Amino acid sequence: MTTPDRDLDGGLDRDLDRGLDRGLDRGLFITVEGIDGCGKTTQARRLCAWLEDTLGSGRALRTFEPGGWGGGALLRRLLLDGTVLTSRTELLLFLADRSGHLDAEVLPALNRGQWVVCERYTDSTLAYQSWGRGIALEEIEGLSNWCRFPAPDVTVLLDVDEKTARSRLGARGKLDRMESGFETDFMARVALGYRELARRYPGRIVVVDGAADEDRVAAQVTERVTERVRQRRRLEGERT
Ligand code: TYD
Repeated sequence: MTTPDRDLDGGLDRDLDRGLDRGLDRGLFITVEGIDGCGKTTQARRLCAWLEDTLGSGRALRTFEPGGWGGGALLRRLLLDGTVLTSRTELLLFLADRSGHLDAEVLPALNRGQWVVCERYTDSTLAYQSWGRGIALEEIEGLSNWCRFPAPDVTVLLDVDEKTARSRLGARGKLDRMESGFETDFMARVALGYRELARRYPGRIVVVDGAADEDRVAAQVTERVTERVRQRRRLEGERT
C-alpha cells in the first residue's frame, strides 16, 4: 500500500520528539493523552472550542482513537467490549484502527489546513501496550514506523493519579475491558509509562496537572499549547 501523505511526515522513530516541526501553513496535529478517567474528552472539547474561537470557525477538528472514523465503530466495540485473546492481537487492532483513522480523517484535515485535536494516539499504544501489557517498546515503534504514522506536533499529557481517575470513572458505572485494568496494577504501569514518555520527549509532550479543577486545567492546556506554537514561530523567524 502506498501512502504518499504519510511519507511527507517521516517515520515515528526520527520524529517522536520533533515537536512543532511542521509548516504553520498546514494544520497542526495535537494529541491529548492520559490514563482512563484523566478528563481528556472534556479537555479536548474545550481546546477545540478555544482553537475555533481563536483561529476561526471550521479551522479545528476534534477526533479520537480508537474508532473515530467510518470503519472504527466495529473495531472500538471489539477492543473495548469484545473478547481479544492476546496482547499482540490487541496491539494489531489498535494499529489497524489508527491506520484507517489517519487515512480517513486526520491527514485529509491537516492537508485542508485544519488543526486536529485527537484524543489518544501513538503514546496510548506505547503506554498501554508496552508499559501495560509488556510488549517491547521497539517492537511497537517498529510496527508504527512500518505504518508510517506521523508524530504529533504537540501532545498534551493530562497527568492524574490512579485514585482520582478511578473515582471519576466510578460515577460512570460498569468499567470496559481496558478500564478493568484499575482492578490490577495495570493502570499504574500505564501512568508510569506516560510519565516516562514525557521525560523522553520533552520537545513534544507538555504535561498538565489533570487533577486540578476543569477551568484551571483548560487554561493550562491552552497556555502550554500557545507557548509551543510561539516557540515554533520564533524558531521559524530565526531561520528565515
Ligand atoms: P477511550 O476512548 O479513552 O475510552 P473512553 O472514551 O471510554 O474513556 O479509550 C479506550 C481505551 O483504549 C482506553 O482504555 C485506552 C485504550 N487504548 C490502548 O490501550 N491503546 C491504544 O493505542 C489506544 C488508542 C487506546
